[in-house]
Amino acid sequence: MGNVILIGFMGCGKSTVGLRLSYRLRRTIIDTDKEIEKEEQRTISDIFATDGETYFRDRETACLRKLTGSANNQIISVGGGLPLREENRELLHELGQVIYLRAKGETIYERVKGDTTRPLLQVDDPLKKIGALLDERDPYYKAAADVVIAVDGKSFEQILNEIEEHVNAREGKVSVEG
Ligand code: S3P
Repeated sequence: MGNVILIGFMGCGKSTVGLRLSYRLRRTIIDTDKEIEKEEQRTISDIFATDGETYFRDRETACLRKLTGSANNQIISVGGGLPLREENRELLHELGQVIYLRAKGETIYERVKGDTTRPLLQVDDPLKKIGALLDERDPYYKAAADVVIAVDGKSFEQILNEIEEHVNAREGKVSVEG
């Protein structure tokens, strides 16, 4: 296994951090949203609109189950709602080290405002919706995580350094300064 999994709310930086982390650790990256879109040959928005959220959530669990049997030493970035199912949290734990990129509602809002690709945020007051979903989800993210990293106000470099320290500690590597 030995994977590093990034979880957190939409817009917390999972995709960008994941990509940079994959360069830094020289490991390939997998994104569950992209895997599902590839398999389904349609966008997440289309899936939600045509088959509904429950169908999408089942696809997420299936995708995670598949990864549990195949992914080794990879970076895995997962959709913001995936850790909510208990079954998924157990699968995440089996997959590797789970890192929660924790962001405040305002930070998230600034990053996702104007975005049309996330069906759950296509509402009149996205900031309010983000706040409500965050309150609901934060305990589940924490329950799923081995490590929580607060990302507000930090540069990607800082976030990556923190993640790398945790990965090295878990994998028993000593980081050498200079
Ligand atoms: C969702 C997050 C999205 C995507 C879908 C639902 C959620 O992924 O899976 O729109 O419920 O938080 P990102 O977190 O990568 O935006």
